[in-house]
Amino acid sequence: MTEDSPEINSLTHVAIIMDGNGRWAKQQNKKTIFGHQEGAKTLQKIVEESVRQKIKFLTVYAFSSENWLRPKDEVESLMGLMRHMLKNEVKKLYKKNIKLKIIGDRSLLPKDLQDLIQKVEKKSENNDALTVIMAISYGAHQEILTAVKKVSEQVSKGHLQAKDITQDIFSDFLETKDIPDPDLLIRTSGEQRISNFLLWQCAYTEFYFTPVLWPDFNETEYQKAIETFYGRKRRFGLRE
Ligand code: IPE
Ligand code: IPE
Ligand code: MG
Repeated sequence: MTEDSPEINSLTHVAIIMDGNGRWAKQQNKKTIFGHQEGAKTLQKIVEESVRQKIKFLTVYAFSSENWLRPKDEVESLMGLMRHMLKNEVKKLYKKNIKLKIIGDRSLLPKDLQDLIQKVEKKSENNDALTVIMAISYGAHQEILTAVKKVSEQVSKGHLQAKDITQDIFSDFLETKDIPDPDLLIRTSGEQRISNFLLWQCAYTEFYFTPVLWPDFNETEYQKAIETFYGRKRRFGLRE
């Protein structure tokens, strides 16, 4: 690398906190679920654009561990929406050579959704244009704690020594095993927080916050985020 050829950031993995569906629905004087339905349409557009942009991994935060505490009817309609997407919309993913992976505590989901997830993951496992990772019933604290328990079990069984636990070994116990850390994290709706999303994985991720509500987010807004990312100087703690 010479001084004349500045290093260009490479964008392999984009993570998105898809926020603002509720406020969008309120603006339209509609019920919250209407915002979630529109948000699902945005997701489809962004998945397709990610393929065009040759991004390899797209992780989207669809439902957090804390979202279980929302009103029962909202939780139920969100489960219904996910059920609908997993049943009807995934065919488009298969056609586009997209792999689908779900992270989060799926044991809390209705049994039929768990079965659907397993089916979709299996059916798409050999696709390799883009991997879409949906975080459903996901919380980073819970993910890290589960990994700690699994590592401890290995240690107590004598398969691993505490002094030998490296960052790479620990990462392998997370649900994102074999997935590179996100290069770019986008959060819509103007909130500037991480809300228990990918805490371990985002150690050196570039953050992009936009006031645009998720149902209004589109290919042009996505392109803006990507261009901003390419203009960033990533240092990873080093002296340039
Ligand atoms: C994000 O939209 C989707 C989920 C959390 C499921 P919100 O429903 O959080 O939208 P706001 O933040 O209330 O506008
Ligand atoms: C984060 O959004 C979770 C998802 C987008 C699925 P929230 O709306 O739940 O986050 P807070 O409550 O504003 O932090
Ligand atoms: Mg929100």
